[in-house]
Amino acid sequence: MTELSPIDPALVPQRILSSGASMPAIGLGTFGSDHVDHDIVASSVETAIGLGYRHIDCASVYGNETQIGHALAATSVPRAELWVSSKVWNDQHGDVATACEQTLRDLGLDYLDNYLVHWPFPNVHPPHCDVDERNPDAVPYDPWAFLETWEQMEALVQRGLVRHIGTSNMTIPKLDLIIPHMTITPSVNQMELHPHFQQPELFGYLIDHDIEPIGFCPIGSPARPERDRTADDSSPTTDPVLVEIAEAHGLHPATLCVKWAVSNGHTPIPFSTNPRNIHANLEATTTELLDEDELDRIEAADQNCRLIKGQVFLWDGATDWHELWDE
Ligand SMILES: NC(=O)c1ccc[n+]([C@@H]2O[C@H](COP(=O)([O-])OP(=O)(O)OC[C@H]3O[C@@H](n4cnc5c(N)ncnc54)[C@H](OP(=O)(O)O)[C@@H]3O)[C@@H](O)[C@H]2O)c1
Repeated sequence: MTELSPIDPALVPQRILSSGASMPAIGLGTFGSDHVDHDIVASSVETAIGLGYRHIDCASVYGNETQIGHALAATSVPRAELWVSSKVWNDQHGDVATACEQTLRDLGLDYLDNYLVHWPFPNVHPPHCDVDERNPDAVPYDPWAFLETWEQMEALVQRGLVRHIGTSNMTIPKLDLIIPHMTITPSVNQMELHPHFQQPELFGYLIDHDIEPIGFCPIGSPARPERDRTADDSSPTTDPVLVEIAEAHGLHPATLCVKWAVSNGHTPIPFSTNPRNIHANLEATTTELLDEDELDRIEAADQNCRLIKGQVFLWDGATDWHELWDE
């Protein structure tokens, strides 16, 4: 295999957060979708940093922070040049400090650049469960309960354990209820974002509130767990418009999705264990971005197709997954 040349991190676009901090506009995702071995994910982190990535998206529920910690320890890149984020899992909304301290121990870090509340609900599901799994203790979104969790997040900033805090899987109605009561507003909101699920209203809301949108499943998560698949799901990488634009750029449609994300003004966090794909995705952010015409064509290709529906977080009495998203 030909050696892959590292990419100069200085060429990678940056997002300036409301704090003034600079965050690389692409991160490496680390969720192995329940089937990729933790050591393989960690080795991808090491590969990615060697190839020029400086932003790694972690979460305690991915179960691999210890292994990723070893990968971070193995790199000679100074800590200050890395942007590492993690997320508090749903079962620790009541004790965020303990969750964060454990994540810091596992990752072998003194601080996180960003720490997110993974989901707005304290609802959990067993690992590897199927789509019909329901937890009888699951509850709907409670903004006051969320704000109690958020106060604990704010305390982590005061303690210097995390530099920024953020949300994930939020909606406009949910954010509207809490933003007026927050001392520190979210730096970012992590959300599903790919050409087939562009979420223009939420995207615009975040930009208006100076909250950076971070796009998960930027490629349409082709290897996502069974519990996140339904017969109606579409796939951005087989969309004829995307395929045609990708061909014109000499890119794989997956890489085009990453280029689209950065061109669209948000921060994708593609997952990959393949060094060539890890490299291609980073490189796509450093070459000429998509032009207005291409962006318009991709905007028109939106299918409004949510892939991560979150059915397993539904509570007793909920109608269906649309209720999780206030639809
Ligand atoms: N906040 C949340 O609730 C939430 C939810 C879901 C995901 N996330 C985060 O978002 C990250 C990304 O989402 P995801 O992992 O579900 O999906 P994704 O990044 O959309 O897709 C990953 C898949 O795309 C393939 N791929 C990547 N680059 C490619 C390329 N250049 N050419 C061809 N195939 C390519 C990978 O295969 P190879 O390994 O073979 O390259 C992998 O199977 C996660 O890892 C996680 O960090 C957050």
